[in-house]
Amino acid sequence: MALMDKHKIIEKNATLLLAGSLFVVTIGGIVEIAPLFYLENTIEKVEGMRPYSPLELAGRNVYIREGCYVCHSQMIRPFRDEVERYGHYSLAAESMYDHPFQWGSKRTGPDLARVGDRYSNEWHVQHMIEPRSVVPESVMPSYAFLKDTPLDTRNFGTHLVAQQRVGVPYTDEMVENAVADLKAQADPNADTSGVEARYPKAKLGDFDGDPARLTEMDALVAYLQMLGTLVDFSTYDEAAGYR
Ligand code: HEC
Repeated sequence: MALMDKHKIIEKNATLLLAGSLFVVTIGGIVEIAPLFYLENTIEKVEGMRPYSPLELAGRNVYIREGCYVCHSQMIRPFRDEVERYGHYSLAAESMYDHPFQWGSKRTGPDLARVGDRYSNEWHVQHMIEPRSVVPESVMPSYAFLKDTPLDTRNFGTHLVAQQRVGVPYTDEMVENAVADLKAQADPNADTSGVEARYPKAKLGDFDGDPARLTEMDALVAYLQMLGTLVDFSTYDEAAGYR
């Protein structure tokens, strides 16, 4: 009875109640968050992750600018229905170079974390120009203008520098070659040895169906085709990841 009386004092005093609630929430927060800074396996060790190639990064910028994240998430939850539909659940390592991350929770359309390699470039271009021409019931808006918008490559190295500042391990060599790499990745006639060496597994060639022009569509499709394809799951040891 005495204890309940004391609790009443807190309940009747808004300031005390607020201070008490904050205190309790703080303890809960610390217990949940603090270990993440000390655990060695917060980000599991995987092979294959690398910073985005300049063309992919440009595509990612378009993705963010157009608000694709408003309808699409990029995080496959570890539930059976999700894994069967989209593939292996997303690993923290797969978004370690994402600034900002694109996880999201709003799914008007499907999750895109592993959409890379699922369709051809032609399908993506057609789908972006007019979604209903390939998926009749689609409610996705048309982004046809991307195919007519030249990609702005001026000073693209500065985008890499900005990413460097927030911890993405772009080397000075990558920054110096940013514009050249960006153009080479989307040019079927270019020497792509530099891009391939710096960005393993980067998809090469024309993306938007018009090899003569470098458009925002090229960049966006290059980005989409890379999503979820970097981590080598054949060498990923699931048990080790959770030791
Ligand atoms: C208003 C909501 C909405 C917006 C905004 C939107 N989408 Fe979609 N998207 C959908 C819906 C719904 C589908 C499923 C039907 C279809 O395939 O068109 C879809 C499907 C897709 C697919 C095919 C996925 C699969 O696995 O079949 C891709 C790729 C895609 N969207 C990319 C994008 C990109 C890139 C943007 C931004 C430029 C974007 N979407 C913006 C709603 C949206």
